[in-house]
Amino acid sequence: MDYAIVAQGLKKKYKTKKRKGLIKSETQVVEALRGVSFRVKYGEVVGLLGPNGAGKTTTVKILSTLLLPDEGEAYVAGYDVVREANEVRKRIGILLSVEKGFYAKLTGKENLEYFGALYGIPRKILSDRINYLMKLLELDRLGAVDRLFEEYSLGMKARLGLARALLKDPPILLLDEPTLGLDPPSARKIRGLVKDLAREGKAILYTTHNMFEAEIVCDRILLINKGVIVAEGTPYELKTMLPRLRTIVVLVKNGDEFKINSVLSELSLKYSVKRTPEGLIEVRVHVPKPEEYLSDIIKVIVHNGYDIMTMRIEEPTLEDVFIYFSSKE
Ligand SMILES: Nc1ncnc2c1ncn2[C@@H]1O[C@H](COP(=O)(O)OP(=O)(O)OP(=O)(O)O)[C@@H](O)[C@H]1O
Ligand SMILES: [Mg+2]
Repeated sequence: MDYAIVAQGLKKKYKTKKRKGLIKSETQVVEALRGVSFRVKYGEVVGLLGPNGAGKTTTVKILSTLLLPDEGEAYVAGYDVVREANEVRKRIGILLSVEKGFYAKLTGKENLEYFGALYGIPRKILSDRINYLMKLLELDRLGAVDRLFEEYSLGMKARLGLARALLKDPPILLLDEPTLGLDPPSARKIRGLVKDLAREGKAILYTTHNMFEAEIVCDRILLINKGVIVAEGTPYELKTMLPRLRTIVVLVKNGDEFKINSVLSELSLKYSVKRTPEGLIEVRVHVPKPEEYLSDIIKVIVHNGYDIMTMRIEEPTLEDVFIYFSSKE
């Protein structure tokens, strides 16, 4: 199979100077990536999710040929990011979260014309492409086409950033926090676009901190922490990696929390009981496989003369998964 992106054992250290007193400084080494491997297929949005400093931007920079890895290999569109960087660059669109490189005194359109010329896109094709992208990203609707970049709002800048990434109509997109700081409608617009682009067959690597976003945008998620991928899977698969966090929640009418507590102790499961503000008793039982315990729990409660009002199973959220894996060494 032809993968859009292959990363194999990527390692990267940064050397920085740490201040020690007024004059002295000592060199400090930060291990940003400690052996990162993954693959991305065409037509797939893969999320790179991890806490601050996990190594997401470093990974994106290596794949976009902006930074050399110390060890390991990476192939983008089948080309080596180190030895065939030019071939890689022709096939990728990059969006880095800190939008640099736009000219403040040029309009949005002029900026795109500049980059299009730089990428060697013929004038006629470029002009059509810019019109298309301005519409697609609603920069025309926002009245941003002919405004100076320095007057752009954050949302407009993000949209222009994505337009630039799409100028060459590249098969592979590397998007580093494309919705950072955007208002909900702008973020939704960008997420929708990303999904559409994947449906067209593009491969997309998408970094974010936003669980909600990762869950709706990404087909697959790589959880990265301290320079290592600690878990990988679809949002559903990741959640099922935390079996202990599945919870059966039962709301009991006419109960007494202390009695229900003692009744449940027969089951020798992990649970908690509390009274809700509405005067109901909420029983929360934490089990690996709720299906296997449901009937026992119902029996114990009903046989002791209590009425069940509602019952539901709470799945762990992606946030639980994120916290669980991010807090592990
Ligand atoms: N140019 C640099 N010089 C020195 N250290 C760096 C440099 N860039 C990144 N680092 C360090 O490398 C590690 C990984 O940084 P990176 O930017 O890849 O993280 P990130 O996952 O993108 O974080 P964030 O969510 O905050 O954007 C961090 O410890 C960071 O301080
Ligand atoms: Mg980053």
